[in-house]
Formats: sequence, C-alpha cells, structure tokens
Amino acid sequence: MKYSGYAYIKTIGCQMNVYDSEKLAAILNSYGYEKTIDMDKADIVVCNTCSIRHKAEEKAFSFLGRFAKIKKKKPHLITVMAGCVAQQEGEKAFARVPHLDIVLGTQAFSRFGPIIDAIKSGKKKIVDIKNSAMIYEALPDTSCFEENKISKFVTIMQGCDNFCTYCVVPHVRGRERSRLPAAIIEEITLLAAAGVKEVTLLGQNVNSYGQKEAQISFPKLLAAVNDIAGIHRIRFATSHPKDLSSDLIYAIRDLDKVCSHLHLPVQSGSNKILKKMNRGYTREKYIDRILKLRKECPDIALSTDIIVGFPSETWEDFKDTMNLLREIEFDSIFAFAYSDRSSAPAARFSDQIDEDEKKERLNNLLELQEYYTGKKNKQQIGKILDVLVEGKSGKLRDGFDHVQKSMEQMVGRTQSNKIVHFPSKDVIIGDIIKIRIENAYPHSLWGHPQGA
Ligand code: 5AD
Ligand code: SF4
Repeated sequence: MKYSGYAYIKTIGCQMNVYDSEKLAAILNSYGYEKTIDMDKADIVVCNTCSIRHKAEEKAFSFLGRFAKIKKKKPHLITVMAGCVAQQEGEKAFARVPHLDIVLGTQAFSRFGPIIDAIKSGKKKIVDIKNSAMIYEALPDTSCFEENKISKFVTIMQGCDNFCTYCVVPHVRGRERSRLPAAIIEEITLLAAAGVKEVTLLGQNVNSYGQKEAQISFPKLLAAVNDIAGIHRIRFATSHPKDLSSDLIYAIRDLDKVCSHLHLPVQSGSNKILKKMNRGYTREKYIDRILKLRKECPDIALSTDIIVGFPSETWEDFKDTMNLLREIEFDSIFAFAYSDRSSAPAARFSDQIDEDEKKERLNNLLELQEYYTGKKNKQQIGKILDVLVEGKSGKLRDGFDHVQKSMEQMVGRTQSNKIVHFPSKDVIIGDIIKIRIENAYPHSLWGHPQGA
C-alpha cells in the first residue's frame, strides 16, 4: 500500500545498524513515507536498536519512552522497535514500552511493509522475530541516503558462529550467513554510479565470508570489488584474529584500493581470559599475525577492541592487556567495560568484577592508549598523504585562524583512517588529494594541500 507522511529513524549501535537503517528508510519510502530529521513531523518513528552492552539497550528504551506523551496527542503515530533489542525482547518489549506498535526483529525486514499495512488496517501490537534463511536483499535507494554519500557501508554477511562468551550477537543476529557475491557487486556498482567513492564491507567475521556457502573467499571478493570502476577505497570490518589468513594479508598488500588499515579485535592480552572468552587464539598467536601483517604491509595502521573487567580478570590479567598495547602500539582502540548480557554465557560466570574497578581499568587503558595514538599521529607530521575529502568540518582547528578568510576548513581521511583537517577553497567532496601533514592532535591531523 502507499501512504503519505514522514518517517523518523533513530539508529543506535554499530555500522551494520547504520546500513540496516538505510534499508528500513528505503522500505518506508516505497510505502510513501518520506524520511525526515524533524522528530515532531514524524508519522512513523523507528528506533533501530543495539543490545551489545547494557547502556545501548537502555538508550533504546529511553528513546522510545519519549513517545508515550506524543502518541496521546498524535494517535496515528506508528512506533517501531527494530534490530537487536527487538529480536532479544520480542513480546516483552510491549511491557516496557506500552505505546509501542511494532517489534521488528533482525531478520524480519522483508515483512516490514505488510506489517505496516496490518497496523494501518487496525491490527494492534505486532511482533516479528522469526528467522529467515536468506538475508534481506534490496538494492539501495540512493534518495534515502544520509548526507554522506562519499563513503558507504555494505553488509556482506550476517550473524556469527563464534559464540564468544560475552557476546549477544549470535543470539540476536543468528547463525552466520553470507550474501551472494553477485548481489554485493551489483550493489556496489550501483553505489559507485551514485557517486560513492569508498565502501566498507561489513560482517561479524569477514574472514569466513562465503565459506559455509562454498562461495568465493573474502580475498577473492575484495579482488572483485577492487575492479569496480568509480570506487577508490575499500575498507572492511570486522576480522577475527583466529581466521586472519595469509591470503587476506596478501590482498591488503596487493590490491590498490584496499586501505592500509586493519581492525583486529584482540579483546584481552591475557591467555586465561582469552580462553574464558572462547576467542580461539592466544596472545602469542595474535602477535604472530600482527608480525606477519607488518612484514608484508609495513605502513599498515592497526586498531582493536578491548573488553576490561571480564569475569575473573585479575590485575595481572589486566596488566597483560596493558603490556600488549605497549608491545603492539595500535593506532587506535575501542575499549569497553564488560557488560553482563543475560543471553550470553559469561553472565553466569563467577567472579564478576566490581563496576568501579572496571571503570578504573578502563581509564588506565584509555590513558595509556592516548600516548600511542598521539605517537602514531605525530609520526605523520612531514608526510604527504592521500586524503579522501569528506566535507566541510564543523569545529575549527587552532591553525585555521592563521589562514585566509576566503578558505573553508575541510575534513577528510587518510588511507590509514586518520582524520585530517585542512584549509582550501576549491577542493571537491569525494576527491582524493595530497595533503602535507603539519600538525598532530590527539584525534586528528592538520595540514595543507600540496602546493598550497
Ligand atoms: N561487554 C562489553 N563489550 C562487549 N563487546 C561485545 N560484547 C560486549 C560485552 N558484553 C565489545 C567487543 C566487540 C565490540 C563490538 O563490542 O569488544 O568487539
Ligand atoms: Fe560476538 Fe565473537 Fe561473533 Fe564478534 S566474533 S560477533 S565478539 S561472538
């Protein structure tokens, strides 16, 4: 059916949710709902939720809670909880959010349209958390894109079979399933035709892409994407250390569009904790992979995820993690305090760590990493780097006061995923230009276009 009105979509969580929200926007668009960024205008509100940590889950409930009052004044407003919390809570979501109309699980996207029809024709409170063997396939609707049309996420697989003991993903996103290579290539070709220059291929463990389905391997998929005209940069996330193959390392080394950056979540530097997390590798094996990677790709930037305060983590275990940061010198890290998830087995492990203790470990870790991020950024000073121009930058850098008023402060990213601010008056968003790096800040670089 076709309706008319506005859709407001709130996205919480990871890059995959950003991608999924665009798919939801496209479905709503095809049902006549135009996307709006003005919540007050909305006739349908979708909260695409994340349950990876307690805080993200609370954010979803508190966002949706705000609509109790609004719905009283605007009874036709449809409220939807989509994504991981929806999948996890199912029917129970109505108890916490009584004014909620639809609970749309992670594998229910293909049924979203008919569900809206049912609500419109008077049905109340619909839950769909059924599994689907196939991933929802629909070509992107470029009219629903967020402002950034230069860089896009493309989900290549869903779910996870690894069952790390702290993680909800296998429980809310289901078993691992890969999309067909032809569908991925068609989608990226369409993105390129719409002006997209950079794609980030997404999966919980991209290294095992296509293995179950006996399709092409991930390095081969990268090679096929590398051949798509108009795409200049390829990124991917996330790699699992236990499956980081030498073929993938060679693909990063040899394929010109694949960026020299790898996000390789280590989670902990302690073998005891890695074992309890069911990660499938040791600290030594992780370091061995990094050494191989650095041998083949000496300039590669590295980032990682770390969880502190996993059940039974002692100060000794934590120190192993601190020492791993010193040993590897990551360019950046994402660090989290362990958050108990009732569907994940670690919730039932003994020796849970006190919240204040977790906070202290997290602060220590972040403080240590700040030093290495700063060090890596300072190492860029004097280099001339290729920067993909993403747009005008909001916050002006100190150095900007000293340049002519006719300039704009622009922002872009290096291959290594470092943010660069620079003054210019004539660069085009989406171009890759050479920037001479002159200054380093804790989270970004500053420079001038070469020759300027
Ligand atoms: N608590 C804290 N952090 C978690 N992550 C996953 N599950 C949890 C949890 N229960 C982190 C991991 C993962 C990242 C996406 O989120 O570090 O790599
Ligand atoms: Fe979760 Fe582990 Fe799968 Fe990553 S690999 S999604 S941490 S179960």
